[in-house]
Amino acid sequence: MRFGINTLDDVEVQGKTVLCRIDINQPVDRATGRLKDTTRIEACIPTLRELSDKGAKLVLMAHQGSDIEYKNFYTTEPHAKELSKFLGKEVRFIDDVCGPSAREAVRTLKAGEILLLDNVRFVSEEQTLFETKLRLSHEEQARTLLVRKLAPLADVYVCDAFAAAHRDQPSLCGFEELLPSAMGRLFEEEFCVISGLMEKPERPCVFVLGGAKINDAFLMMSAVLSGGAADTVLTGGLVGEVLLWANGEDIGEEARAFIKKEGYENLVETAKELLAAYRNKIVMPKDFAVVENGGRVEYSLGKIPPGALVLDIGNKTAKKYQEAIRAAKTVFVNGPMGVFEEEPTEAGTKMVWEALGDTGAYTVIGGGDSITAAKKYKKTGLINYICTGGGALIRFLTGEELPVVKALRHGSTIKAKKE
Ligand code: 3PG
Repeated sequence: MRFGINTLDDVEVQGKTVLCRIDINQPVDRATGRLKDTTRIEACIPTLRELSDKGAKLVLMAHQGSDIEYKNFYTTEPHAKELSKFLGKEVRFIDDVCGPSAREAVRTLKAGEILLLDNVRFVSEEQTLFETKLRLSHEEQARTLLVRKLAPLADVYVCDAFAAAHRDQPSLCGFEELLPSAMGRLFEEEFCVISGLMEKPERPCVFVLGGAKINDAFLMMSAVLSGGAADTVLTGGLVGEVLLWANGEDIGEEARAFIKKEGYENLVETAKELLAAYRNKIVMPKDFAVVENGGRVEYSLGKIPPGALVLDIGNKTAKKYQEAIRAAKTVFVNGPMGVFEEEPTEAGTKMVWEALGDTGAYTVIGGGDSITAAKKYKKTGLINYICTGGGALIRFLTGEELPVVKALRHGSTIKAKKE
């Protein structure tokens, strides 16, 4: 047991059906549905290999989201192929989550075999129950459909999804009430490293927040500022644009229309409150890049022409961010500065990642897109710690006990109640 949570050393899995929640949520190419990166898939292999080698009948649960918040869910079918490749053994896939076909597939598993269920977020409870919408107790989580259907078929629950540890969802927090539970090896490692980091981050401690998960980014910003973890927050992507709007700046009508269309206008009020309380710690972009005739064109704030959609921070902003990163002692990064996948709009992210590679600060990055960017700019070997979690990492740093950690601790202290 570590941190009050069972590890794989504390559960008997030989010949047992083990339900294992992993986080293999990866950036997806929207046009082809192909995975653009496999970092999280590779990261959970040690746990899966250990469980399979120990003779578990292994059932994997995972989610796959889109690049914008929680929309456009994809099947986990391509993930089964990648898992098979990295494990060197077949991972079967079933296009069902907890219906009759999935349950039949679970029942027919033999020791050492591995089955991946389809995207758990195809079950609506996985999306609607978490965060602020509706808080369920451990007992209530255990009464959700997914848990009621799958728990009776399983003997042990393992959670290796550190990257989703901030989500209060049945696949993550519902099984611990009913089954003997443990964290997997990846969860254990990330928990251990990040806990160590939290004890005393050297200051100044700079957070770089960007990306498209904007609700999350505002939650994080608020937490790291109010908790005192952040001395400075550098903002990019949509986060920066919403802050600028809240600050009364002109970000261009296309950006405003996009923010409204995606339903983020409500965050302008949140941004105003954050600016009122922490204005001296929040840094917003001063210039932006747009694409005109296939090429990059930069505009200062307030000069963005009608019809142009900002897709990256500009050069002046990126240089300023580089200076702040190079002067820091600790840097946490979650999310790119713009659409770094496309050549004309990658410079902002590229420059920030360059500074991450050569700063003397202790650097930590987290999250799918951040890792993809580190790989693209060949910085993985230069960054001190790469965490599979983005949102989970930052939320962990706020000192809040994450829902999955709470559930695993709870599970490790109660007697298995499986009927
Ligand atoms: C992540 O990418 O941060 C985790 O996989 C959690 O995904 P979510 O933000 O869609 O819940």
